[in-house]
Amino acid sequence: MVLEQLRLYNFRCYDNAEFRPDPRFNVIVGLNGQGKTSILEAIGLVAFLRSFRNAKNSELTRFDESESCVTAMVNNRDLRAQLAVKIWSNRKQATFNGKSVRFLSEYVGKISAVSFSPTDLDIIRGAPENRRIWCDKISQTFDPEHTDIAVRYQKNLIQRNRILKMVAEGRASRLPDDFEVWTEELCSWGAKMIHNRIHSVDKTVDKIRRYYQEISGENTGINIRYISDIFDEVPCGQQSQVSLELIAQLLRKKLDASSAKEKVLGTTTVGPHRDDLEMTMEGHLARAFASQGEVRSLVLALRLTEVEIYKTFQGLSPILLIDDFSSELDARRRKFLLDYLAESDSQVFLSTTEELQIGKTFVVREGKISSSETIANGYHLTD
Ligand SMILES: Nc1ncnc2c1ncn2[C@@H]1O[C@H](COP(=O)(O)OP(=O)(O)OP(=O)(O)O)[C@@H](O)[C@H]1O
Ligand SMILES: [Mg+2]
Repeated sequence: MVLEQLRLYNFRCYDNAEFRPDPRFNVIVGLNGQGKTSILEAIGLVAFLRSFRNAKNSELTRFDESESCVTAMVNNRDLRAQLAVKIWSNRKQATFNGKSVRFLSEYVGKISAVSFSPTDLDIIRGAPENRRIWCDKISQTFDPEHTDIAVRYQKNLIQRNRILKMVAEGRASRLPDDFEVWTEELCSWGAKMIHNRIHSVDKTVDKIRRYYQEISGENTGINIRYISDIFDEVPCGQQSQVSLELIAQLLRKKLDASSAKEKVLGTTTVGPHRDDLEMTMEGHLARAFASQGEVRSLVLALRLTEVEIYKTFQGLSPILLIDDFSSELDARRRKFLLDYLAESDSQVFLSTTEELQIGKTFVVREGKISSSETIANGYHLTD
């Protein structure tokens, strides 16, 4: 998968910029605040339809402008396609070869990328939502239908919450008849989401441990467990044996038990939107006890695992977006990553404040991109 051309219109600090990347290795170099991360974010936006910095729509559009657009020309197994994302303050619209995309599943996977960014530390240390996003991304790689399942769950959740809010605010005296339909649907899609997530985590833990050992040189007992209120009566470590049908029943039981609370709070209090992953190292919660270096090694291991499963299950090498290479990683991890990149066949975009003698260099200054000549000589990164 190769990004052949990228165009930014009113995106972040760029008014109208375009560049043609190298099919293999691109170094985006510039001083702080010049627009390096914004380029990687734009590529990520076309791939994930969201910002890897977790930015809102309004933050992505250039100050004082009302809309922005990122357009990418992608070559996927010799098939060229144009992908674009238009952004307004209250919505985004993706297009594929100029046609608006109605369903997310029509779009997701047309361009695939894995980002390595300083905000990744939030997967370990931040709010549960960061871990859910990571988990959904790997689940989607194992099963592309996971995207639609999550969208359908979300739609039901919004409807159900809208009704609960009316009751909580006294705008409705009782739950309408269709509430039961929303609840049933919610359980059905929610159970599928939970089932996929549990099995995806199960399939990745060994790989994460292996990468962690390669990166850090330590054989650390890493574990990841899916946490959901619905499993409070299921013995620890036995979640993966619970069938899809039983997950739906457990979710329904919990929802029924929380009914009174939901009508007061005006929201659905249990389900995959509230679940979390418990990540432990040697039995201790990584979020609370891991050192900064250990957290960095762990997120790097999570991302490399993403790349590996993508290659295995989709048969393609995702584009790699590596933000803040020079300041974010120490010498050992930098060397590890460069060795890894030298062996990988992915197209790479790496942002840094210090020039690297690798690949094609793009200099970024005050929202303008200029390219310098290709320095690479066979990409012998480890030489
Ligand atoms: N919506 C926006 N409109 C205009 N400018 C913006 C917008 N969002 C961010 N900026 C500015 O764009 C500039 C570039 O930001 P970016 O994060 O891409 O820089 P960077 O080169 O990655 O910097 P660093 O090396 O510090 O990470 C910053 O000065 C930032 O304040
Ligand atoms: Mg940056």
